[in-house]
Amino acid sequence: MKIKTAEFVTSAAWPRDWPESDLPEIAFAGRSNVGKSSLINTLCERKNLVKTSGKPGHTRTINFFNINDQVMLVDLPGYGYAAVSKTERREWRQMIEAYLADRPNLLGVVCIIDIRRGFEDDDMLLITAAPGFGFQPIIVLTKADKLKTNARANTRRKIASGFGCKPDDLLLFSATKGWGRDELWQRIRELVAI
Ligand code: GTP
Ligand code: MG
Repeated sequence: MKIKTAEFVTSAAWPRDWPESDLPEIAFAGRSNVGKSSLINTLCERKNLVKTSGKPGHTRTINFFNINDQVMLVDLPGYGYAAVSKTERREWRQMIEAYLADRPNLLGVVCIIDIRRGFEDDDMLLITAAPGFGFQPIIVLTKADKLKTNARANTRRKIASGFGCKPDDLLLFSATKGWGRDELWQRIRELVAI
């Protein structure tokens, strides 16, 4: 995918503030600090389109990015971050659920998992709930550069068998190395037909 323009549109929590747009949207979801914002930067070949952070809980609202006037990439707040209050966590969850349920031009959800951690309860919840919202999620194992070649393949197999899918169904990604970028764009382009 050739990136001609990549622009931040807005940051918004609730439906009244979401941008009006006819572009097809793809959302990126995952636990806090898993690497969602870094993954979007890698997809867009930009270093700082999306702010990233070593501290979990960085992205707290829904951020919309217009790519080539062809597709909107949407960075969702990370779930499962223990250090915020229960009320705040409940709000994040409601924010994500409202977005998945009420965004007519949303065509796909990329669920991002840290390869070293595998699926956790919150991930399972999202991935199993996604078809009910009308999506078959694209599952990505990121930070793949953190494991050596053999460990990477073994871990991918183990995670797949725990989840009940084929290893090939789990896309390997690394924001630092750029691995998986073309394959993920391919999957996204199939969904949004561009
Ligand atoms: P929140 O917004 O807090 O939910 O986090 P996030 O999921 O957006 O994560 P973010 O992209 O901010 O990355 C968190 C940390 O992981 C940063 O220190 C990144 O540099 C690092 N990181 C992200 N992706 C990768 C990767 O593929 N490989 C390596 N080695 N580090 C990564
Ligand atoms: Mg983030």
